[in-house]
Amino acid sequence: MDAAGNLRGTYPAARQNAPRLLIGSHLDTVPNAGAYDGILGVILAVALLEELRGRRLPFSIEVVGFSEEEGVRFGTPFIGSRVLVGRLDEELLDLQDAQGVSVRRAIEKFGLNPAELPQAELENDTLCYLEFHIEQGPVLARLNQPLAAVEAIAGQSRMEFTFVGRANHAGTTPMDLRCDAIAGAAEWIGAVERAAQSVPGLVATIGKVEAKPGAANVIVAEARLTLDVRHGSDDMRTRAVDNLIRQAKEIAARRGLSVHESTLLSQRAVTMDPFLTAEIERAIVESGCKPHRMVSGAGHDAMILAEKVPAAMIFLRTPGGISHDPAESVAVEDVEKALECGMHLLDQLASSPEFQKRMNRA
Ligand code: GLV
Ligand code: MN
Ligand code: MN
Repeated sequence: MDAAGNLRGTYPAARQNAPRLLIGSHLDTVPNAGAYDGILGVILAVALLEELRGRRLPFSIEVVGFSEEEGVRFGTPFIGSRVLVGRLDEELLDLQDAQGVSVRRAIEKFGLNPAELPQAELENDTLCYLEFHIEQGPVLARLNQPLAAVEAIAGQSRMEFTFVGRANHAGTTPMDLRCDAIAGAAEWIGAVERAAQSVPGLVATIGKVEAKPGAANVIVAEARLTLDVRHGSDDMRTRAVDNLIRQAKEIAARRGLSVHESTLLSQRAVTMDPFLTAEIERAIVESGCKPHRMVSGAGHDAMILAEKVPAAMIFLRTPGGISHDPAESVAVEDVEKALECGMHLLDQLASSPEFQKRMNRA
């Protein structure tokens, strides 16, 4: 386990000091989650190594189970993978959870040492990063195909908005003399939904709402909300976010409230490595399946790793397209196909002249 709580294990190469290939996904999940988002990718990586049955390849394979990908506890995702690319800065370490525990303190309480985070960074000999993941959407189910190659991952913004009004008595304060923070927040939530509905490809979600002081007979003094905005185009996403900030300010001003926002994440969209994506497609065909390329609306550790090394992803069909819910599932036959595809991919890379060139450079 590294200092960020990522679980890591290496399967040796045929020769010593050979470069390494990374395969992984995340260990954490969301509240009331399904059983496959993240962990299936880690298990598939381990199963691939088992399937090699001791056979050595020209590269070593490091399996990584990432910690804190979802961003549930601290509001900001990809903490484990950001450590590997050297992006866990002081600001992120100081971020606090709902109990006021910082990321730094949480790492210490888990028995790890934040001073050792730099040692968790990617080694220079890392060739690439591969990730298996359930699609978490309906595309492959509709196509009736088990696997897809991911060509890009949509960018995402995560923010927190706090509307501040004045607490007062629910029975004695006339409607026109209130500064009700939750009523202002509710008006803005409607505006967020309308804004997202009016732009093709834009999705915006208010996933968490907290009201203070939080009693049935007290007007809300403070409403705190999370906002998650995504689009394939970074320009469209940032424009949408600016527009939503402007609308929040306008609504707050009209209602005698104040509002402040903080950005927890602004992650740009990323393209997966074209060579690896083509190899994945070839491996899908070798496994007897039809190839398909798609853009991921969900975020993945691969988008963080892609900052430093070529990254690529394989999606598995998600029955009903349901995810982030206990109804999330996967077909055993599809997992078998993914394993078969992974074996073809490893063999293709082991004998690919292009990959050999990359290995010589590493
Ligand atoms: C990860 O599950 C995400 O929110 O995209
Ligand atoms: Mn998830
Ligand atoms: Mn996931």
